[in-house]
Amino acid sequence: MTPFSSEQFKDATRQAWDRCASGWNGQTPAIHAWLAAATAAMLDAARITAGMRVLDIAAGAGDQTLEIARRVGPEGHVLATDISEAILRLAQGNARQAGLMQVETRVSDAEALAVEAASFDAAVCRLGLMFCPDPVQALRQMHQALKPGGHAAVLVFSEPQRNPCIGILMTTALRHAGLPPRDPFQPGGLLSLGKPGLLASCFSQAGFTAVAATRIYAPFQRPSARDYLDFVRASASPILQILGRLAPQAQEAAWADMQDQLDVFDMPDGWEGPNELLLAHGARPVA
Ligand SMILES: C[S@@+](CC[C@H](N)C(=O)[O-])C[C@H]1O[C@@H](n2cnc3c(N)ncnc32)[C@H](O)[C@@H]1O
Repeated sequence: MTPFSSEQFKDATRQAWDRCASGWNGQTPAIHAWLAAATAAMLDAARITAGMRVLDIAAGAGDQTLEIARRVGPEGHVLATDISEAILRLAQGNARQAGLMQVETRVSDAEALAVEAASFDAAVCRLGLMFCPDPVQALRQMHQALKPGGHAAVLVFSEPQRNPCIGILMTTALRHAGLPPRDPFQPGGLLSLGKPGLLASCFSQAGFTAVAATRIYAPFQRPSARDYLDFVRASASPILQILGRLAPQAQEAAWADMQDQLDVFDMPDGWEGPNELLLAHGARPVA
């Protein structure tokens, strides 16, 4: 269980993402390159095509929102939702700058979606569902928002051993902050939906049919471990939340410790952090 009530947990999540909204947005080129193939697979799994109405949950600064908007074209519509108003404002700005007027944004908790029932052809969530303390509730909300026959697809991190950099960041941050190690599958955590079989089971519990989950290898490639850490320092809200309680010098010691450990992923032509994602999808039954 999460150490706070679900509402306290979500308040803390909202504030943390408000704080690193511009950092995440500033890392969009790196995030886009890292997740391009996985994002295309997610949009295919949700069967997104021209003219559709698509719900994008936990949309962040909107990198995948823009991809969806390009797929649905000017006749389609994308509603990007997120719990953080600050990050969603950036998503809206990015869409306008790209000339994608079919994008609308709405602040909304994924577990209590403020959208009309049965009004979307497809729904997606890229690297957001694992932050929900009750992912089945979030999936129920997605299910309810879909028209009968509509498809949902989500991307989350798989198990800890397939995402060793996240393990290094988390355990090092907790140790430097004087906090006990956490169960990686603790609800609301980065790896919380990585337990084998869990994500597909959540989809089924939420009422989806034709449920399937597949693994996608998505290594994070940067020139060096230092560049990867620059990304984390600017944008990785869960790690920043833990280190935020430390004095600046103690934070620097934690970052240096992480870099020593991450250097192990140096390759002859750059740095490559192993990462594996799970892509799950399901359909709202027609009847
Ligand atoms: C790792 S970012 C991913 C953003 C975007 N989907 C992407 O892939 O670039 C996680 C996002 O989840 C959002 N989030 C966390 N908990 C949420 C909740 N309960 N409801 C809606 N959004 C949430 C955060 O505000 C943040 O924007």
